[in-house]
Amino acid sequence: KKIAIFASGSGSNAQKIAEHFQDHPSITVSLILCNNPSAYCLTRAENLGIPSYVFDRPTFRDASKMMAVLQENEIDFIVLAGFLWLVPPYLVEAYPNRILNIHPALLPKFGGKGMYGMNVHQAVVEAQEKETGITIHYVNERYDEGATVFQATVAVESTDSPEQVAEKIHALEYAHFPAVIQQVVEEI
Ligand code: GRF
Repeated sequence: KKIAIFASGSGSNAQKIAEHFQDHPSITVSLILCNNPSAYCLTRAENLGIPSYVFDRPTFRDASKMMAVLQENEIDFIVLAGFLWLVPPYLVEAYPNRILNIHPALLPKFGGKGMYGMNVHQAVVEAQEKETGITIHYVNERYDEGATVFQATVAVESTDSPEQVAEKIHALEYAHFPAVIQQVVEEI
C-alpha cells in the first residue's frame, strides 16, 4: 500500500511516519505533497529519499492535475500531517475513508479553521483547560467532522506556556500517529 502525506510546514510528523514504515513489508510513504515551496517538510522528503510535489492553490483546485499525480504514484491512502488547507470534495470522493488527519486538540473542542500551530495551544492555555490532546480522524467534506479514529490526552499544568503544550502534543503525535495509520491501512 502506498501512502501520500500532505504537509504545509516543518513536516516532523511526516518524517516520523515515513521512518515508521521504512521497514514495513507492504506499506510505504511514496510521496510527500506540500503547498508551500519553502516549507522544511520538502527538505525532510529529500533527506528521506521520498519524491515530493509542490502545488499552489489553483493546482490544488485542479482535480485532473492532482489526481494524475496521485494516480501516477499509485497512491492508496492519504495522510494529512500539519496540512493547513481544506481538502476539496474531489479528493474526499476519490479517497472515501482513505484520508486521515491529525488535529492537535481534543475535537470537537478547539476545532475549525485557524486552530492550528500555536493558535490552538494558545487557546487551550487561555481557556485554562486541565487537559488537551490529539485527535486522529477521517476527513470528509466537513473537514474536522469526520469520524474520530483515535484520541490521546495529556495534562495541561496552570504554568504551561503554549510552547510547552505544543511540546507535549508533538510527543503524543509522534507516539501514536504512525501506529494508528498502520492499523487503519492494514485493514483496507
Ligand atoms: C502538528 O502539531 C499538527 O498536529 C498540526 O500542525 C503541526 C504540524 O507539525 N496540524 P509538523 O509540520 O508535522 O512538524
